Amino acid sequence: MIFGVTGDLTHRKLIPALYELIVAGRLSWPIIVIGFARRDWDENQLRSVIRDAVEKNARSRPIDESALSRLMENVSYIRSSFDEPEGYRRLKDLLADRNLTHCLFYLAAPPDAYAEIIHQIGQQELAQRSDGWTRVVIEKPYGRDLPSAQALEADVHKVFHENQIYRIDHYLGKETVQNILVFRFSNGIFEPLWNRAYVDHVQITVAEEVGVGTRAGYYETAGVIRDIFQNHLLQLLTLTAMEAPVGFNADAVRDEKVKVLRALRPWREAEALNNTYRAQYVSGLLDGQKVIGYKDEPGVPPASVTETYLAARVFVDNWRWAGVPFYLRSGKRLPRQLTEVVLQFKQVPLSLFDWRNFAGDAPNVLALNIQPDEGITLSFGAKAPGPINTIEPVRMNFSYSETFGGEPPEAYERLLLDVLSGDATLFTRSDEVQAAWAFVTSLLQGWEDHPVRNLPVYEAGTWGPPGADEFIGRDNRAWRDPV
Ligand code: BG6
Repeated sequence: MIFGVTGDLTHRKLIPALYELIVAGRLSWPIIVIGFARRDWDENQLRSVIRDAVEKNARSRPIDESALSRLMENVSYIRSSFDEPEGYRRLKDLLADRNLTHCLFYLAAPPDAYAEIIHQIGQQELAQRSDGWTRVVIEKPYGRDLPSAQALEADVHKVFHENQIYRIDHYLGKETVQNILVFRFSNGIFEPLWNRAYVDHVQITVAEEVGVGTRAGYYETAGVIRDIFQNHLLQLLTLTAMEAPVGFNADAVRDEKVKVLRALRPWREAEALNNTYRAQYVSGLLDGQKVIGYKDEPGVPPASVTETYLAARVFVDNWRWAGVPFYLRSGKRLPRQLTEVVLQFKQVPLSLFDWRNFAGDAPNVLALNIQPDEGITLSFGAKAPGPINTIEPVRMNFSYSETFGGEPPEAYERLLLDVLSGDATLFTRSDEVQAAWAFVTSLLQGWEDHPVRNLPVYEAGTWGPPGADEFIGRDNRAWRDPV
C-alpha cells in the first residue's frame, strides 16, 4: 500500500526494488500493489508507470518479463486526497474484498501529510488485524526538530505499536554501511585499536556531485543539516562509534546506537557556530560543464541562506571516545560523489625516518569507502627501495567489485525485504530518532539565535570553501584528500 505512489521515490526506488526482489526469487508469496494518491490515475496508468519505473531504474538487465508481469498483474489505485475519509473507506473495502493477510503501509507521501494519513488509517481501524501483520514504513524527514519529531511520534503511537513502525534511513540498507559492523566485530585485530588511545580523529564525508535539482521547495526547509546530517551522517557516526552489541538483533544493535547519540556533546549558542561551518554553492565547472549556483536553481529565493555544505566537529563524550574529534562533512555540487568513514591513527611517539612524498601527517589511515568505489583501504609507511632510509606512504586495498564482482544490491531491496520479514535492525527506533534530533536541535537553535545574512560560498566542482579548510585547520588537522 503505497501512499504517494505517483511520486519520485516510488518510481526511482520502491518499484525497482520490489521488481528486483521478485527477480531474485525472494518474494515467493503473491503480492498486490495498491497505490493511493491525489492524481487522476487508474489501474492501467499505474501499470504503465510500474513498467516505466522498471525499464528506467531497475538494476538487472535484460528485463525479466515474467517478474514484471507478476508485479503488474495485481494492482489497484485509489484516487483520494490524504485527508479524505472516503478514500480510506474504499481502501478498507478493498482490503476486505481481497482477503489480504498482511499489509504494509508505505508513506512515500509529502512529510506534512504523515500525521493525517496515520490518523485516517487509525480512524478506519486498518492498523491492527487479528489474522496477519500490519506494518508502516515512514520515510525521512521524520520531523524537523525535536518537538516536531516528538509530536509525530505521539501521533504515530496512537495508531501503531513501536514494533510495527519502520523509520527508514536508506543509508543503513547499503551493503558497505552494514559492513562497518561486520568489519569491526568479526575481526579481532582492529577493535583493540578502535578507541581514544590509538585514534587521533575520525572524518566522515558524504559528498555529492548532484545539485538541488528540482527539489528546492523541500530543500529550502531542510538544508544539509536536516537532509543528510541528522540522518545519514549521524547513522554512519553511530555505527563507527558504538560498542559491540550483545547480539545482532534489532534491539541489541539499536540499544548501542542510541547510547552513542546520547553521548554527543550538545553544541549550544555560540558553540553551535564555532563547531560548524556552513556554505552555499555558486556556479562553477563540474566535469567540464558549467553548472548554475544554488540561488539560480528553480524555486530558490534570491536571499536564501540555506546551507548546501556543512562541516561539523562532534565529540562523543564516553570512555571510548573522550577527546577524539569526529569531523563530519557533506555538500552538494562537490567534484564527485564520495561517501567514506576515515580513521586517522596517532603518530608514532618518535619518528626515526624521513618521509618522502608526504605532507607529514600520521601515516596510518583506515578508510571505509562506502560509495561509489566500495571497499576498504589501510595506509601505512614502507621503506622506499634504495640505500637511504626514506619512507613512502603505501596502501593495502580491498575492493568489493574485484573480490565479489558486480554491483552491490540497492539499499531499498534489502530494506523492503527486512520490513516484509519483520526485521527492524536496520531501521531507526523511536528513542534513536529523538536522540539524533536532540543533538541537531541544539545546533539549529544556536544558528537561529545567531542568524546570518549571507553564507560563505564555494564554487560548484570544488571540495568546499577555503573556510572549511581553516575550520579543521584550527585543530592542526586537514581534510583527507579524496582518493
Ligand atoms: C537523500 C537526500 O536522503 O539522500 C538527497 O534527501 C541525497 O538529497 C541522497 O541526494 C543521497 O543518497 P545516495 O544514496 O545517493 O548517497
